[in-house]
Amino acid sequence: SARPSQDARPDRPAISVVAHRGASEDAPEHTLAAYRKAIEDGADALECDIRLTADGHLVCVHDRRVNRTSNGRGAVSALELADLATLDFGSWKEGIEDACGEAPDRQHEDPERTSVLTLERLLELVTDADRRVELAIETKHPTRWAGQVEERLVELLGRFGYAKPAMSTDWTSPVRVMSFSARSLHRLRAAAPGIPGVYLMQFLTPRYRDGRLPVGVGIAGPGMRIIRAHPEYVAKAHRAGHRVHVWTVNDAADVELCQELGVDAVITNRPKQVRRQLGLG
Ligand code: G3P
Ligand code: CA
Repeated sequence: SARPSQDARPDRPAISVVAHRGASEDAPEHTLAAYRKAIEDGADALECDIRLTADGHLVCVHDRRVNRTSNGRGAVSALELADLATLDFGSWKEGIEDACGEAPDRQHEDPERTSVLTLERLLELVTDADRRVELAIETKHPTRWAGQVEERLVELLGRFGYAKPAMSTDWTSPVRVMSFSARSLHRLRAAAPGIPGVYLMQFLTPRYRDGRLPVGVGIAGPGMRIIRAHPEYVAKAHRAGHRVHVWTVNDAADVELCQELGVDAVITNRPKQVRRQLGLG
């Protein structure tokens, strides 16, 4: 094969499998049900996107607006948590399943499948899990709210004991923060240096092509498109001393390529199937 293969590193830990928006192929994304399923499916970590509501709560919603994933309309930043709590964040998924010809199974009556999820509730889930489950939190940050998402995040992580200073103990944070914005990661690092940062990349810009990352960031988060086009990037990032977490890795061929290249984590909507393919479950 013309693909560069990973170094023989027998001590390399198994690839970490990260559930993207929860087990979001099976359950509505960003719901408690999707995250519970991901934990049941053996995911090592859970990925979530966070946004700030009009009244200052961090909620797990991907899009700027609630239109796609709920029966409501409008920007998350214009709605209060109480408004979001009246919406159904699960039935759109059953609608898709119906369209595929599958019988609805009344799962929409389960509040864990339909309620908006706060980051606080997700942190409780992770904290109460009976094994170590990591959480990869992505800051989605309209410029209007510059700094406030990170401020609230650090405050909340502090309440859970996850925002300790870097050098204080041999403790490793189960929480990491991801962003396409180097500035957001920088703000996080300034406020909570013990929390690892993941720099997400949609395209491989000349600045980072050689495996370097923004100052203080230790994990590269390239999209699968980068990995397919530039498989040599993984070895370059590793040589620069960084780990590589790839998104969104759903197809078997992509999982295989990531495994062959020795990436450190795959972020996927289907943790169960990916773990099975990797021989982990
Ligand atoms: O895990 C990173 C990935 O989630 C970034 O893309 O659009 O799914 O948030 P998006
Ligand atoms: Ca995300």
